[in-house]
Amino acid sequence: MRQKEFLYGGDYNPEQWLDSPAILEKDIEYMKKAHINEVTLGTFAWSTIEPEEGLFKFDWLRQILDSLYENEINVILSTPSAARPKWLADAYPEVLRVNADRTKNIFGGRHNHCYTSPEYRRLVYRVDRKISEQFGNHPAVKLWHISNEFGGECHCPLCQVAFQQWLKKKYGAIQVLNKAWNTIFWSHDYLSFEQIESPSPKGEEMLHGLNLDWKRFVTDQTADFIAWEKKAIKEGGSELPTTTNMMYDYRGLNYHKIKDLIDVISWDNYPTWHKEAEAVTALDTAFQHDFMRSLLKKPFLLKESCPSATNWQSVSKLKAPGLLTAASLQAIAHGSDSVMYFQIRQSRGASEKFHGAVIDHYGKADTRVFKEVTELGKKLINLSEIVGTTTKSRVAIIHDSESRWAMEDSQGPRNKGLHYMDTVKKIYGGLRRQGLNVDILDMEYELDGYDIIFAPMLYMFRSGIESKIRAFVASGGIFIMTYWSGIVDENDLCHLGGTPHQLMDVFGLRSMELDALYDKDSNTGVSNGVFFNKDKQYECRNFCDLIKADTAKTLLTYESGFYKGYPAFVQNKYGKGTAYYVCADFEESFYIDLCQKLVEDKELDQIPITIPEGVSVTTRENERQVFLFIQNFGDESVNIKIPGEWKQLLGTGSIIHKYETMVFSKEKN
Ligand code: GLA
Ligand code: ZN
Repeated sequence: MRQKEFLYGGDYNPEQWLDSPAILEKDIEYMKKAHINEVTLGTFAWSTIEPEEGLFKFDWLRQILDSLYENEINVILSTPSAARPKWLADAYPEVLRVNADRTKNIFGGRHNHCYTSPEYRRLVYRVDRKISEQFGNHPAVKLWHISNEFGGECHCPLCQVAFQQWLKKKYGAIQVLNKAWNTIFWSHDYLSFEQIESPSPKGEEMLHGLNLDWKRFVTDQTADFIAWEKKAIKEGGSELPTTTNMMYDYRGLNYHKIKDLIDVISWDNYPTWHKEAEAVTALDTAFQHDFMRSLLKKPFLLKESCPSATNWQSVSKLKAPGLLTAASLQAIAHGSDSVMYFQIRQSRGASEKFHGAVIDHYGKADTRVFKEVTELGKKLINLSEIVGTTTKSRVAIIHDSESRWAMEDSQGPRNKGLHYMDTVKKIYGGLRRQGLNVDILDMEYELDGYDIIFAPMLYMFRSGIESKIRAFVASGGIFIMTYWSGIVDENDLCHLGGTPHQLMDVFGLRSMELDALYDKDSNTGVSNGVFFNKDKQYECRNFCDLIKADTAKTLLTYESGFYKGYPAFVQNKYGKGTAYYVCADFEESFYIDLCQKLVEDKELDQIPITIPEGVSVTTRENERQVFLFIQNFGDESVNIKIPGEWKQLLGTGSIIHKYETMVFSKEKN
């Protein structure tokens, strides 16, 4: 899909308004007024497309597609599989989900279906293929949107059999599985694959290998369903690219196993703005954008966002003037080629009747929200040359879904909270304070091409990560790993012979014991002046790793407790590079100072500006130009002096107020 402009629009559900042609007409007029150039159609429209089994109605959709095309509005066409009509659930009860406690759902909701059910697959295939035959080559349609926010799991008898077959394929023999899961514990060993059942709160839920493989199976089964829908589209005659919308920090699926099935990554972004300081929410959101962009390392689409307030968060807070623009441009700054809303016109009834929309129940364009949407539309047109540019990052953080699944499922060392994402975000914040673009990788990526890589709590080692880290450091990279890394293998079996597994020489140490702290307790890492200034001290909480340093050089030591004087942060030279090991869960300022120091030492090529707190700096580029985004999410207005060779595309002068965005461009030499 080659775009010339940012896609600007969102979900549109004309099937809710077919009895009001005047409204549909008005909608297109308003879209034009707001510079909207895209809508997503069909997402939950199955019952309008196929009101009875085998009876298909496409005229309404054709009419709308035609008039959108006449008005130069692009369409992302959805398959309707995310919610099924009542006739379908009644005729084929097997399609409804069974929960982990083995209770079966009745009709209702969405995503309430089994991805294994042959009947569901047959009916989805048929409707998808028909839509593709009808509209897959319609000139308005530019992209397929498969289903909607895939998620959840089903424990029905069909899924049990599919899981057993999946396990058989993976392990071959039951003895191999028993070994991998250590089922001998509590005498839970299996005699055949047919005996295995999915994890359940009513039965087996402590076998971590089972839990982990079940999660992998759910991802694979969902991926297989996506592939199935793609096949229907293709066999219907459409060669258009595909996307599927992903969710914020969604842990039910490993998105890395889905990314290669689709052409464009897209995701739905609903931050709880104003709940915390905006700079805090902005950092959290930025991380998600970077995670999504890193999946395919190319521009993604902001598929949904709310133009005003959602209705499903605990408090439906309005966005203060300017925040919608800032949040939308933040997506662009981090690599999105779109700004899309849920939704264009607000529903009249049912569960989303109070969810914000571009056109609300009042139905006219003279609203605060519509005006800001329109202003933003204009700004995006002026930034069109940025579409398609990519993000280059010299630094990365390893954040691996499978390792996180396993780590968070394990009992011990701190069942009341590992603070994993807090740690990831402290590191991310430290890097972003240096104005660096950051990639978020899982363990399956190659590590070369980066200067600095962080691996917080890399509990599981899989996909040959040990050798990749060794090679990365040996060839000159800077690798920073923390406590609770290299503990288990890919089946969640503990490594024997010392940790971090197979990297003790690279880090020059062995982790002897890990102390977990009560919430009320803390310790302090005190600098010896070798790396940080002599007067530096950093508080740590939650975890203190007691290491035995071999070749590693101590940079901080614990201040108190029975391990007073033990190393708390160390550095080890290995080959041409340096490996750092962070022994404890240090406060934010530790990571801010560490990132600053690493960037200085490595002399990374940076934009020569000082970045105040709350201000975000990112870049996008193509062969000819670099684009620089500066956004202020802090409360104070700040003065930022940009060197003269940068041409200002958005904003004026050097003072940047809260929620403002400045965009600059520069020719590459
Ligand atoms: C999700 C869904 C949409 C809508 C919005 C509301 O992202 O994909 O259909 O329900 O939430 O915020
Ligand atoms: Zn099922």
